[in-house]
Amino acid sequence: MKVGYIQTNPIFGNKEENFREIENLSVNLKADILVLPELFSTGYTFISKEEVYSLAEDVNGITSQFLIKLAKNTGAIVVGGFPEKEEDKVFNSAMLVSKNGVIGTYRKLHLYYKEKLWFDSGDKPFKVYDVKGINIGIMICFDWIFPETARSLALLGADIIAHPANLVLPYCQNAMVTRCLENRVYAITANRIGKETRGEDNFKFTGGSQITSYNGQILSTAPSNKSFLDFVDIDIEKARDKKLNKFNDIFTDRRKKFYAN
Ligand code: ACM
Repeated sequence: MKVGYIQTNPIFGNKEENFREIENLSVNLKADILVLPELFSTGYTFISKEEVYSLAEDVNGITSQFLIKLAKNTGAIVVGGFPEKEEDKVFNSAMLVSKNGVIGTYRKLHLYYKEKLWFDSGDKPFKVYDVKGINIGIMICFDWIFPETARSLALLGADIIAHPANLVLPYCQNAMVTRCLENRVYAITANRIGKETRGEDNFKFTGGSQITSYNGQILSTAPSNKSFLDFVDIDIEKARDKKLNKFNDIFTDRRKKFYAN
């Protein structure tokens, strides 16, 4: 099974140009799972709720149409981040699509920094999607710092975690080694590059998108300063065996009654 990411350099507010970058990078690409960054079509550094709302879409908008077309062209199941509008709310979401349409969205549960001013906190529980026999969980960027996120997805049966990101801190790529090892799941962290100076904020996004194996091995690392894509072959069955050895199973060995809540 061929899985991977496209690391992009979004231009704030310019969806057409951001779609074009991905189209150009994905010419002739064929894959099973493709992950794009968080908020890949809009950029990240919003300065008001009104601005987020004006760029937000529901699952029938131009971003979903673009992702479905990408799924058709590549044959992949595609996950990408977008600001999701529902009535007067906007979530920092990721959409899961196949060539047949939108399968579902995940609404970021752990908002980072000023996202708390512009977005509503996610209001749906974690969910794992069985698509063509692959169990896919989704988390977004800063969700990584809460080990409960990857654990919940793994306990719900995820084989692989699609992880759209706009990382600005240097810790996530290392942390994903542990997240994958402690849950025996694969993860695809699709980050972006570039800078955004808007309002009082000046973010530099760190690139270094990463594919991490169920045993903590890093299968792919992107550069920190270039748009990039990479794909690797994985054996999904490895993520379904939670045994470390003859004596230890990382799920059934858990001592839940001794844990804090
Ligand atoms: C982040 O959650 N985008 C840092």
